[in-house]
Amino acid sequence: MGRVQDKICFVTGAAGGIGAAVARMLAKEGAKVAVADVADAEPLAKEIGGKFHRLDVTDEAQWADAIGAVDKKMGRIDVLVNAAGIEGDLQAGNPETTSLAEWRRVHAVNLDGTFLGCRAVLPVMKRAKKGSIVNIASIVSYFGSPNAVAYSTSKGGVQTFTKSVARYGARDGSRIRCNSVHPGVIRTRMIKNIWAESARLLNRSAEDVEKLSLRMVPFGELGEPEDVAYLILYLASDESRYVTGSEFQVDGGWHLVEARS
Ligand SMILES: NC(=O)c1ccc[n+]([C@@H]2O[C@H](COP(=O)([O-])OP(=O)(O)OC[C@H]3O[C@@H](n4cnc5c(N)ncnc54)[C@H](O)[C@@H]3O)[C@@H](O)[C@H]2O)c1
Repeated sequence: MGRVQDKICFVTGAAGGIGAAVARMLAKEGAKVAVADVADAEPLAKEIGGKFHRLDVTDEAQWADAIGAVDKKMGRIDVLVNAAGIEGDLQAGNPETTSLAEWRRVHAVNLDGTFLGCRAVLPVMKRAKKGSIVNIASIVSYFGSPNAVAYSTSKGGVQTFTKSVARYGARDGSRIRCNSVHPGVIRTRMIKNIWAESARLLNRSAEDVEKLSLRMVPFGELGEPEDVAYLILYLASDESRYVTGSEFQVDGGWHLVEARS
């Protein structure tokens, strides 16, 4: 028996580093996993014996179609992992240079996308009076970011929205849990791009920027997508049955340092 044996899971951002690692781990532990992304995650779906849904998380109708299709075929959804996200334009990302269009674009994916996902799955989970939703926020939810204001604010929104869903999901005897996961620096396309863009902005080499970033991390190294996936596996499983509205950092201790600086 796997840790999430026979659970029906839906994972967004599955063409990306963290989403793919989560989907693989849930499948390895016995779940039936539907994967979703605006980019192609068909090969991953084939690999894990799941189904790929082309989904732009900013689109209400596409959410209704994707969740409706899984519910119709599988009869329920036990777990939703909202992992889709974008970092935004870091070259024009400070509080003075961020355009309103860019602010809205980043919020549309990171915050609206998470809201729409929760809203779409709640009626399905309410029928069963249980379920687990995991929203991926970020360590910058806590202390902002001078050059990624839209990104950090959207992730702060995800953190608070998660608590609202957790409180709502506990009403009327339901046990719909909702927790936020806050990664630090994890080896994916996103962090590589953030370092490359920061290097351009600061006129430093990408290696310099990487070293500077890792200096903030007590463990002094990048995390792997699987480090995040192990945490999400726990939150998806019944092992976390008494855990809701909580925040989980997976960051090699970065939040301890930044909070003091
Ligand atoms: N990598 C890190 O260091 C780090 C740190 C903190 C938080 N995060 C968060 O983790 C999550 C996963 O990021 P990642 O590091 O795997 O990055 P990634 O770029 O590898 O993956 C992100 C995925 O989201 C998908 N996506 C983007 N816009 C979408 C949309 N409109 N609809 C559907 N899918 C869309 C992309 O196609 C991509 O596959 C994101 O929410 C990110 O903000 C990552």
